[in-house]
Amino acid sequence: MTIQFLGKTLKNHMVLASGVLGNSKEILERVHENGCGLVTMKSIGPAPRDGHKNPTVIDLGQGMINAVGLPSPGYLNMENEWQDLDERDFPLIASVYGGSVKEYQVVAEFVSAKKPDFIEINISCPNSEKHGMIFGINRQSSQDVVSAVKEVINVPLIVKLTPQAPDIGDIAKACEDAGADAICAINTVGPGMVIDIESAMPVLAFKKGGLSGPMIKPIAVRCVFDIYKAVNIPIIGLGGITTGEDAIEIIMAGASLVGIGSAVRYRGIDVFQKVTDEMNAWLSNRNLSIEDIKGAAHKEK
Ligand code: DOR
Repeated sequence: MTIQFLGKTLKNHMVLASGVLGNSKEILERVHENGCGLVTMKSIGPAPRDGHKNPTVIDLGQGMINAVGLPSPGYLNMENEWQDLDERDFPLIASVYGGSVKEYQVVAEFVSAKKPDFIEINISCPNSEKHGMIFGINRQSSQDVVSAVKEVINVPLIVKLTPQAPDIGDIAKACEDAGADAICAINTVGPGMVIDIESAMPVLAFKKGGLSGPMIKPIAVRCVFDIYKAVNIPIIGLGGITTGEDAIEIIMAGASLVGIGSAVRYRGIDVFQKVTDEMNAWLSNRNLSIEDIKGAAHKEK
């Protein structure tokens, strides 16, 4: 059984979140072989960028905090990756970021020519003052990025949103009006901070970072719920999804596809197959299909 998403055939509803496993074809292929229907690359930026100093990722048990800092070779320095990915047998989302509307547009246009199946624009990273979230917390700048990118690409456009937006439904609607084909929500929450009380030092070298994993799931579910109410384009729901029951929950909020990030660390690379199997078992026990439960939490809709 396969599913359709924006004109492409996927083997199931699972999506690898951006940034979790980098950009090499071998690893992205392995993710697909382990039950992931659609894989997302690490965000690609306008210029070479090292990212923040280590430590950049800390496991807090109930989730993680990261300030990786958008490291990227820069879009002009990825010929090897593109060459490898040219002949792939899995669907691919290329994620892009910029520090201005023009940069988003330039990177997206270049990346579009490399023929990913979809382009995701990251207007939601909390770990840089100049890139990402600064665009996604504001209706006008979200819309400006979406319409500029939409003009120059020839694959469907997904917009990755931040839970820090004052009204994420309103931002999603603005993106839909500007031409977005789908919404991906949510990026990490925050930034937050964790201090080691023995040394009195923030645990991350960058001090602040985005929160992910089980502790943010209720925020993700609420955001997807709000977005579903506001738009008519599909939603990739993610944020703390770890089990089949978590996937069911975010689909009931309105997600069409389910993203997984931190749970790769908690349950291994075959987490995609595990979550799919658990979800299907839950549904078949109740004689239900995904379509029956999608958006089911919106009873009055
Ligand atoms: O939490 C995040 N970390 N979200 C992003 O969008 C980028 C990433 C990073 O590189 O810091």
